[in-house]
Amino acid sequence: MSEPFGEPVVVGTDGSTGAIRAVEWAADHAYLRRVPLRVVHAVDRLPYDAPRYPIPDSYDRLTPSGWQILGHAERAARERRPGLEVTTELVEGRPGRVLRDQAARAAELVLGSHGAGGFPGMLLGSVGNQVAGHVPVPVVVVRPAPPEAADEIVVGFDCSEASGPALAYAFEEARLRGHRVRIVCAWEPPVPYGPVIAFEPDETRRAAEEYARSELRPWQCGYADVKTELDMVRDHPVAALVEASSRAALLVVGSHGRGAFAAAVLGSVSRAVLSHAHCPVAVVRGAARR
Ligand SMILES: Nc1ncnc2c1ncn2[C@@H]1O[C@H](COP(=O)(O)OP(=O)(O)OP(=O)(O)O)[C@@H](O)[C@H]1O
Ligand SMILES: [Mg+2]
Repeated sequence: MSEPFGEPVVVGTDGSTGAIRAVEWAADHAYLRRVPLRVVHAVDRLPYDAPRYPIPDSYDRLTPSGWQILGHAERAARERRPGLEVTTELVEGRPGRVLRDQAARAAELVLGSHGAGGFPGMLLGSVGNQVAGHVPVPVVVVRPAPPEAADEIVVGFDCSEASGPALAYAFEEARLRGHRVRIVCAWEPPVPYGPVIAFEPDETRRAAEEYARSELRPWQCGYADVKTELDMVRDHPVAALVEASSRAALLVVGSHGRGAFAAAVLGSVSRAVLSHAHCPVAVVRGAARR
């Protein structure tokens, strides 16, 4: 088994069911990657700093309750993967900020799409929004419902260089799990202006597929032991990826950062699939590892 990262996988928990799903996913993942797991809880005092109706001693209860949350998560991880090296860390600060800072000492960050807060109908919590795409390491957002048993990893491929790190992550993960990789390349004919249709859809599709296949060839050669399928889907990329995610163990997308400044910004496809996908989503940024 190859070992691409030496740093631990870091998972954030607030003690909620959604976070425990993330802890379990992270334990599986760290075990497969043969790296330790670090469970982190951020003690967020801000909501208690200027309370209108102060609750006696509530401020002092945050630290012991944080350790309890960590203890619960640590037990869940150890039960899931006996023998896995698990450490815990209690950090003062806002959860999004704390987890972003953790990226400097992590191979990956894992968190839940939902936590203890939120509101009915919310698709992605504030922490996911503040972390995904904002750190150089991959961020995996795990949904609260257990995913369907699946043996494929879906990766979004837009034929751009930004897909490289996502492909590398998907192939590596598929190799470790013994899964196949389904490469979803969504395409749409350009919208015609006026009554004349200037683009022949079949021709556009053929050209897109030919280009995609040539771009993918080096990856398929490099990971000859991993089965792959290319799906050319005539649809919006979000619709195509969300549909494919219903049969996937994991959906992998790039962050679509372009250049140093825009690198901190998540592309619209990645942002949308983080909210709508049916399975865990990995957002991968950084240099491609072939
Ligand atoms: N205090 C925290 N410490 C560590 N990780 C946290 C903390 N709070 C949230 N997380 C991580 O973020 C995930 C999503 O929680 P998040 O707070 O974003 O959603 P929420 O609580 O449902 O809504 P809200 O954005 O209103 O707080 C959790 O499952 C957990 O992995
Ligand atoms: Mg929260």
